[in-house]
Amino acid sequence: MLGKKLVTAQKRGETRALCLGLGMVACSMMMYFFIGITIVPSYKRSVWTNESVCQLIKATIREKVHCSYNEGSDDENIFRYPCLEVQVNLTLLGQVVKLYHTEDTVDKNPKCFYIPPNMENYSKVEKLVKTITDNFRKHQTFSCYFDPSRKEESVILKRLYPPEGLSFAFVWPSLMLFGGLLIIIMVKISQYISVLSATQYRTSI
Ligand SMILES: *[C@@H]1O[C@H](CO)[C@@H](O)[C@H](O)[C@H]1NC(C)=O
Repeated sequence: MLGKKLVTAQKRGETRALCLGLGMVACSMMMYFFIGITIVPSYKRSVWTNESVCQLIKATIREKVHCSYNEGSDDENIFRYPCLEVQVNLTLLGQVVKLYHTEDTVDKNPKCFYIPPNMENYSKVEKLVKTITDNFRKHQTFSCYFDPSRKEESVILKRLYPPEGLSFAFVWPSLMLFGGLLIIIMVKISQYISVLSATQYRTSI
């Protein structure tokens, strides 16, 4: 009687552990999938892999440019920002090219070096862009990233998607997959052992 209860309790425990393990495996698969469709494309597009030294040629503020997120909207007065254009000498190759803040800037607005993150207050945005321009004039030489294949001519100042970042994104789902598989294997081993001991018990009497 007691033995039967114990066996049922053990079975229930095993089923729960198995569900947990399978759930963890499924969850990690979903995480891999999301990383695959959201983060990986950004990293793949990031061709600016080599570091070099850039020398400022000129940094000029052009006409006010529409916020690219808001293109086609009716109200033309909101969300404009001064467009800072920066040209640098990629000293390694002696080429004069356009400089952008990050990989995202190139995608969103290839006219300007910088896209302000918050555009609601125009005078604040204007001040920010002015500060950036002054900084360039103060520090004329700085490190930058370029595409070694030269398919992409422009250079960027800051990499948002370095390759190390991608492997870091895979750490959590991989840990979860490993944990889930470990639980499943342990349950299977314990089931195997209990079957083995049960048959041994039966043969011994
Ligand atoms: C760019 O830098 C290289 C190396 O410092 C130099 O030889 C070249 O004259 C520069 N080009 C321009 C346009 O300033």
